[in-house]
Amino acid sequence: MNLEKKIRNIQDFPKPGIGFKDITTLLEDGEAFEYTIKKIAENIKDLGVDVIVGPEARGFILGTPVAYELGIGFIPIRKPGKLPAEVESYEYSLEYGTDRLEIHRDAIKPGDRVAIVDDLLATGGTIAAATKLVENLGGEVVAIEFLIELDFLNGRGKLDGYNVNSLVHYSEE
Ligand code: PRP
Ligand code: MG
Repeated sequence: MNLEKKIRNIQDFPKPGIGFKDITTLLEDGEAFEYTIKKIAENIKDLGVDVIVGPEARGFILGTPVAYELGIGFIPIRKPGKLPAEVESYEYSLEYGTDRLEIHRDAIKPGDRVAIVDDLLATGGTIAAATKLVENLGGEVVAIEFLIELDFLNGRGKLDGYNVNSLVHYSEE
């Protein structure tokens, strides 16, 4: 299936010059959604993954059905102040300012084999932070799976040494 055809490009969103990759058109197409989830699950099914980790919000949409498909658990990474129990927190730099992500401390057990799932690899800041959160709790990141990768931003450069897979690549804006 050609997933690129199911993803809508919205020019000049959220800022002039940016071509936003809108996955809502893929999600509302049942066949494309099922194909996407099954493909990601297939990529990681032989890696002995214990748990899927996905960052708020779009990482929840793809990460939870992948976990369900594999019959394993899902752990959310959330924006600050949302998780009720004790959290591990990681602050990272953006172009302007900083951002922070959190995970429940007791969610990952030392030695857990973790696959991280998100919709999009852009600069790599979000997922680099997610790998730190998992590793700070003693987990091992055995795969990082994306629906979309924006090759021209070289987010992969921040994920050196990891097993990174993306279903759709864009080579230019
Ligand atoms: C988007 C996208 C990825 C991230 C990629 O999330 O869903 O998680 O940006 O960018 P990066 O590689 O430069 O970090 P966003 O924070 O916009 O929020 P959302 O998932 O809650 O919509
Ligand atoms: Mg996101």
